[in-house]
Amino acid sequence: MNKEHIDSQISKLEEKYKDSGQDLSSYLDGLLYQRYLTYWDYIHLDTLLSIQVPRTHFPDEEIFIMYHQITELYFKLILHEQKQIVDDKTQDVDFFIEKADRINSYYKVLISSFSVMIKGMQREQFMQYRMALLPASGFQSAQYRMIELYATPMENLVHFSERDNFSSKNSIEELYEHIYWKKGATDVVTGEKTLTLKQFEYRYTPRLIRIANEVKNSTICHKYQELPQKSKDNKTLVEALKALDVNANINWPLMHMGSAYRYLTKDNAQIDATGGTNWKEYLPPSFQKVVFFPELYTKQELNNWGKQWVDHIFNPEKV
Ligand code: HEM
Repeated sequence: MNKEHIDSQISKLEEKYKDSGQDLSSYLDGLLYQRYLTYWDYIHLDTLLSIQVPRTHFPDEEIFIMYHQITELYFKLILHEQKQIVDDKTQDVDFFIEKADRINSYYKVLISSFSVMIKGMQREQFMQYRMALLPASGFQSAQYRMIELYATPMENLVHFSERDNFSSKNSIEELYEHIYWKKGATDVVTGEKTLTLKQFEYRYTPRLIRIANEVKNSTICHKYQELPQKSKDNKTLVEALKALDVNANINWPLMHMGSAYRYLTKDNAQIDATGGTNWKEYLPPSFQKVVFFPELYTKQELNNWGKQWVDHIFNPEKV
């Protein structure tokens, strides 16, 4: 190797470590003694593969656990991109589009892989091991709620039946009390909150309120609204944001609901593997009508929100 090049690298390293209190020579010793990095250490593979721990002896429970874990990792990837949009000060449209496209590609994986749940487990096994997991439910996914908070102002997350009575003038705490998901995971007979909902609120309310306050004026929706008009009119950006909305609030929820129907109804009657929650009234996207970027749609599009699988707004090359 070129000696001059190495000398220059050494002087750069000297410069780098100058102010650290230790000299370069000590760091070079460290380099000499360090073990080679392996794939399995780098990605913490042993840890990753040790956290699928079933509560019953039904083999399919492992599929259920793993697919939830995989989904949570994708949620983390989505949040990772969302945070970069929220933190961005440049208003660079290409950057915005790139991040939204990445989020959409993660949703696409989640949507197309949901067959792992819908077709991939024996119903008889599910019905039995699911009872051993109560009151735990994907409903308690905090990352799912965080994605919503980063995407849109809290007033857009108020339950549809009350949304018109609230605006950005209400405090985060007030809006939070009326957030749509507080109507979910309630007992279908008594209308009372189930333990699923109560435990989730107890564990995550402070964190969710803190995040909502942090992004009070800088959600992805705000970031879009604050762009100069020319950028707001950028067709690719608008399409990417609409695709994100439809992925998060229609197509994923419909796939997910497909699994609820497969496992939790029999001859169209509800069975109790959720512990008897109101999921049939709560889950349909056309009832929830959660929309992250309402200004991108016509009144009619908003009225028909979630009534069907949506793919017509997608640019086929993008999906
Ligand atoms: C066989 C598979 C599944 C079934 C039968 C199922 C069933 C349900 C039901 C009935 C609810 C409504 C709340 C309740 O009543 O407990 C729910 C909510 C939820 N589940 Fe699942 N689920 C399945 C898989 C998943 C997976 C793999 C995830 C990924 C993390 C997930 C995430 C969620 C989320 C985020 C909610 C809340 C949705 C909302 O608030 O609109 N579920 N699920």
